[in-house]
Amino acid sequence: MVYLDHAATTDVRPEVAAEVAAELGALGNPSSLHGHGRAARRTVEEARERLAGALGSTPHEVVFTGGGTESDNIAVKGLYWARNTPDARRPRILTSAVEHHAALDPAHWMAEHQGAVHEKVPVDALGRVDPGVLRETIEGGSGPGAVALVSVMWANNEVGTVQPVRELAAVAAEYGIPFHTDAVQAVGVEPVDFAGSGVSALTVSGHKLGGPVGAGALLVARGLAPVPVLHGGGQERDIRSGTLSPPLLRGLATAVHLAVAEREEHAKHLSDLRDELEERVREAVPDAVVNGDPARRLPGISHISFPGCEGDALLMLLDAKGISCSTGSACSAGVAQPSHVLLEMGADAGTALSSLRLSLGRTSTREDVAALGRAIGPAVERARAARARRR
Ligand SMILES: Cc1ncc(COP(=O)(O)O)c(C=O)c1O
Repeated sequence: MVYLDHAATTDVRPEVAAEVAAELGALGNPSSLHGHGRAARRTVEEARERLAGALGSTPHEVVFTGGGTESDNIAVKGLYWARNTPDARRPRILTSAVEHHAALDPAHWMAEHQGAVHEKVPVDALGRVDPGVLRETIEGGSGPGAVALVSVMWANNEVGTVQPVRELAAVAAEYGIPFHTDAVQAVGVEPVDFAGSGVSALTVSGHKLGGPVGAGALLVARGLAPVPVLHGGGQERDIRSGTLSPPLLRGLATAVHLAVAEREEHAKHLSDLRDELEERVREAVPDAVVNGDPARRLPGISHISFPGCEGDALLMLLDAKGISCSTGSACSAGVAQPSHVLLEMGADAGTALSSLRLSLGRTSTREDVAALGRAIGPAVERARAARARRR
């Protein structure tokens, strides 16, 4: 079996699994005042310090959550509500057009149900947001004073394009607008430094970097107080109520710490394998087209269009050969939908539907790449023939 879908989720590191397992046996709610509670609290606070240290924030800025989706929802909804008070109305939410649905859909929901105006900042053909275009968008519409927040991801989960986050955050800062970035795909492969990047809020998720699924964090800069999405026991400075999980948070912190410590070596391992993978694909399918920004893309993601094929058909043919990958786009009621990312980059629906996302991780090997190289040519031939028959 060959796994080429590490951008969807990747292996839990053995050292992380061992720590999570060890901690699962410990009794105590971190909010309890007795000895058991204090021990659990210590585990959580050590995790907070480790995670903060790895990502360039202070421990106080770390809000633990259940993962990337929850962090994005708190950022988009919570910052919107915080910036819309009886004294100030700021209806505009600006997101890049290629955000993950975890950021895009909350913005859309706020427009449908909360009187927000969701505006998408366009990208170019390589999937990049230009700081000048962000500035024009802020200046347009009902003006900068009406913008509640800007959200632009650090790196795209489908095509891997890395955004100029520092420059974009600097533009938002000029207008005093909070800037959120979804760094779920970037941590561990890109140099992510919360303080140095100038962003106001940053999303991280455990299961994309060797940590447990269901654990994540939102880093929130001092002075910002997103209105909570969940109400309850008042944990995490009232921003995210809910009993904290010492095992998952310890695992998350260790995974982030190791991912950041090993980043350069890991990124090199991935980019070497990715280059080889793309070479094998081009040998087998000369008209395959690699998407994303060749100059600035994540080392472990290869997003490729195969003219004349349906991505879904290719996925199933590769699956039959024991190779797991993704089309990168959503499926609605059993009908393949073209990826909004590819469409926003200017691709037509046919091209958008003809793509696969092949993503590599820590456990990927040259044998995995060779197996894909052997399987992709025949799979493309069969997918093309099937499509031709249906026409
Ligand atoms: C860029 C990005 N943001 C957010 C998410 C959602 O994270 P989680 O699965 O932890 O909710 C993902 C996962 O697919 C992602 O790739």
